[in-house]
Amino acid sequence: MPQAIDFLKSAVTKTRVIPVMILDDVSLARPLAEALVAGGLNVLEVTLRTPNALDVIKEMVKVEGAIVGSGTVRDLSHMRQSEDAGCQFMVSPGAPIKLLEEAEQVSIPLLPGIGSPSEAMAAASMGYSFLKFFPAEAMGGAKVLKALASPFPDLVFCPTGGVSPDNAASYLSLPNVICVGGSWVTPADLLGKKDYAQIEKLARAASTIGF
Ligand code: 3PG
Repeated sequence: MPQAIDFLKSAVTKTRVIPVMILDDVSLARPLAEALVAGGLNVLEVTLRTPNALDVIKEMVKVEGAIVGSGTVRDLSHMRQSEDAGCQFMVSPGAPIKLLEEAEQVSIPLLPGIGSPSEAMAAASMGYSFLKFFPAEAMGGAKVLKALASPFPDLVFCPTGGVSPDNAASYLSLPNVICVGGSWVTPADLLGKKDYAQIEKLARAASTIGF
């Protein structure tokens, strides 16, 4: 059985947008997480796509109120590193059975990514009922999730990939979508300028979507 992910499901009823970050500069981690939490987004995903991603996570977990997870998790070593860095959850772009099996050796839960009915069925057969739909827009967007609702009434989704302020509300209006993930809240230009005030503003705007 997968590790319990109910705390995350409950957290995303209050904040339905998960900022997805690709960050390498550790010095930005803490003020960035503080700005996001101050803006009302406290569930944060840091992708393991940069050399310093784990150190970024270690800084962000120190921020009061932040629930930090790792993203782009692809193997057991990523999962163990995530656990050691203090993550409370992990997100993967896909759901290979080996990864789902290995996730059971780790104490924090995995949100696995799926892009098709067969992948959803495979993940569901392993006990996963909360799935990331990735890459959401490229896979067909909200209309695909709408079509998945009838055959899979037991599954809920977090679409990620191409989600923006323009389409987030339509995803979040679907009964089988409990949250969305996206990178638009932490744009590289604002990070480059260390404009945390503007990032907090974007977070505040994002925090109202879906309510
Ligand atoms: C990613 O793959 O980086 C995430 O899913 C975020 O995608 P986005 O940049 O399209 O929001």
